[in-house]
Amino acid sequence: MMQIDRVEKPRWLQLLLPTCLSPGMGLINRKLGQASCLPSKVFIGASWCPLEFGTSGTKENNENERTLIIQPQFSHVKSVSARNAASPHMLHRSSQLLDPVDAYNRLAPFYSEIANTRKKYLESIERLIIARTPSGSRSLLDVGAGDGTRALRIAAGAGLDDVVLLEPSQNMVRSCPAATEVWPIRAEELDSDGFAARRARPGRKFDLIICLWNVLGHIRPAATRTQVLGELGGLLSSQGLLFVDVNHRYNIRSYGLCKTFGRFIYDQFSPGEANGDVIASWNCGISRCATYGHVFTHQEIRKSAAASHLKVEERLVVGYDCGILRKSSFEGNLLYVFRRSHSGEQSSNEDHSPELKLTT
Ligand SMILES: C[S@@+](CC[C@H](N)C(=O)[O-])C[C@H]1O[C@@H](n2cnc3c(N)ncnc32)[C@H](O)[C@@H]1O
Repeated sequence: MMQIDRVEKPRWLQLLLPTCLSPGMGLINRKLGQASCLPSKVFIGASWCPLEFGTSGTKENNENERTLIIQPQFSHVKSVSARNAASPHMLHRSSQLLDPVDAYNRLAPFYSEIANTRKKYLESIERLIIARTPSGSRSLLDVGAGDGTRALRIAAGAGLDDVVLLEPSQNMVRSCPAATEVWPIRAEELDSDGFAARRARPGRKFDLIICLWNVLGHIRPAATRTQVLGELGGLLSSQGLLFVDVNHRYNIRSYGLCKTFGRFIYDQFSPGEANGDVIASWNCGISRCATYGHVFTHQEIRKSAAASHLKVEERLVVGYDCGILRKSSFEGNLLYVFRRSHSGEQSSNEDHSPELKLTT
């Protein structure tokens, strides 16, 4: 759950843009930034500015949820607290960058209100999942389930009676029905011994696994996302399906033509797994809270899926503003349907749309 807001850039930064679009400069700036030998403002401006180029995509702004800063190059900063110390100016004055789970703990009282602003999109995704649930399915695992509302709606719609919510934020699951089974862990902990010991039935598999509204973007780095997808694949029953929707980095309708074009060009000249890293911030009552996230390209997802032995069964493009299915990937978020791939099997959904070919 995140979207891009306009970032005010000083005039000198705008003048730097053409320089920043040069891949060489981008790399040099990044190296200098890592070495911390430049004032961080120069480093940050030079690094993420290309991706902010022409920021006009404010169509989807709402009062509760905004991504304040785009494209920080902070893969070199190990922890959130270190990052706060390293570049506090990147955040809104009243925001503090929190670990995602802490952020959602704070956000929990406002969550349904925020979800309501994306009602059309969220409900459309739920309908698409229900329509694709294989007959005979019984069990559902929701990874990063939030308040559990959507999992319970999907389970009701698809006739699933065995529901598990994996949700590490205590406050988020507080309001879900007491009888619901909750795994209070992070997705990254799925393979841990502690979790295996806690799991009620070893070897348990699920007919449907869902990981919705860019939960994957809160998991870092890319290798960990791949590891999580692999774990989820391992929890699928033989005919089971995994549904994942992510915020699409090249969604012109959300981010505007200029910004999307800038991101695209930057990705071509200076590819890097941190290119899609963003900071999401929200109003939580009178204060703001912020956390890190990631907005994805199809190429990134395909790579992670292949590495985690998942086959892309289908990829749908869904308008983030309206929930309508779109033909071009430039027009929405990406909903993936995965199944476990058997050795040697190729993705059945090689994309032939021109923009996706460009990203490969
Ligand atoms: C945008 S909300 C989405 C909630 C729900 N999937 C929905 O669609 O309403 C993101 C959720 O992911 C959870 N989350 C954050 N980091 C996580 C992690 N590492 N593992 C699992 N869940 C995580 C948050 O606590 C939050 O509830």
